[in-house]
Amino acid sequence: MEIPVNKLPGTIWYPYAQMKLAAEPLEIVGAQGVRLISSQYGELIDGISSWWCAVHGYRHPELDAALNEQIAKFAHISLAGLVHHTALRLADKLAQLLPGTLRHCFYSDSGSVGVEVALKMARQYHINQGNNDRTLLLALTHAYHGDTFMAMQASDFPEYHQLYASPGLQSHVIRINPTIDELEQAFACHGSRLYGFILEPRLQCAGGFYRHGDDFLGRARELCILHDVPLICDEVATGFGRTGSMFASETACPDIIILGKALTAGYIGHAVTVACDKIYQAFYADDVHKAFMHGPTFMGNPLACAVALKGIEIMEREHYLDKIALIESYLQQRAPYLASFPQVKEVRICGASLCAEVRDPSLLKGLQSFAAGKGVFLRPFGKNLYTMPPYVISQDDLGQILDVMEQWFNR
Ligand SMILES: Cc1ncc(COP(=O)(O)O)c(C=O)c1O
Repeated sequence: MEIPVNKLPGTIWYPYAQMKLAAEPLEIVGAQGVRLISSQYGELIDGISSWWCAVHGYRHPELDAALNEQIAKFAHISLAGLVHHTALRLADKLAQLLPGTLRHCFYSDSGSVGVEVALKMARQYHINQGNNDRTLLLALTHAYHGDTFMAMQASDFPEYHQLYASPGLQSHVIRINPTIDELEQAFACHGSRLYGFILEPRLQCAGGFYRHGDDFLGRARELCILHDVPLICDEVATGFGRTGSMFASETACPDIIILGKALTAGYIGHAVTVACDKIYQAFYADDVHKAFMHGPTFMGNPLACAVALKGIEIMEREHYLDKIALIESYLQQRAPYLASFPQVKEVRICGASLCAEVRDPSLLKGLQSFAAGKGVFLRPFGKNLYTMPPYVISQDDLGQILDVMEQWFNR
């Protein structure tokens, strides 16, 4: 029998939490399919896929087997003068899936680091061509790109990041709303000083689930070409189907794309920053100083690569994009009733995601334990009550998530 432990002794410092006030976390003792098994509430349908990465659900037999097969060979080697077949195969597969010449894969261990890698690459792309004057980064309002320092600066998330803002560096970020007018104005004023434009294409997830049109991305593509500004699409959250297409930016063909979260099916933290030929060529030279100076210890980890390859295979074979379309149409059916509650300001849906924005964050206080009491795990943030379920969820289970949201507003 497991020895009961005090879950808030401070030995684990929890994310985004005031440790003195935080509620006790639920202890998870097992997980299967779309369900977490908690010691307190029993089975819980996971409405947020472990922060959006467990898209195949838990303990998928094929994913488990892929990991076991790799572990029987070796769990890790560095890419320091070494390589392994699984990392090579994954890079090939990603190159096949991604548009244009996006085929130069730089692996790292998390989405935030993947963003850092992308920003360094974009900046050095210009430096390697003798241009050191491009010091400005274009980014969007309501952006979230991670919690490391450059990722925070690219983000627009004062609730989380204000404390760490460094005025000097912040002033290097030009921030616009995702409208074509503001975009054109930014390029007209700063085009020759920009080293990159970073955005989450189509859907800004953690920033509040705001959607912007593909025409915005299309115009960004044109302007980036015109001004030789690398277009950097952060698809850590949107990649692998979340917004309804495999990659939200696939029609725009970015210069650099960052993938994470669903990449490794929720099994192991990993990310990949993929560059197109034009970016790669700016580094490819006889001059050692033009090399890209970055190297996470766990880049290309064999277990991560093995589970990623298997996850992509399952996604293609099982036609996940069709499942995502069904999830979206079911969410659309349920949305009008949810939107009719006076507490709800707006319901926004994009692919396999739904966010009900409430009028005040206090309206969501206590929701998490209410939902758990009804067999669902949800974790709202700010004014956003949302679900991003695993793609393998059944309509009944998805219905239960929506039922719980409605019951909360109906109390
Ligand atoms: C769009 C986006 N970029 C980057 C990150 C950071 O990823 P990680 O938490 O793996 O560092 C996140 C995490 O939520 C994200 O949503």
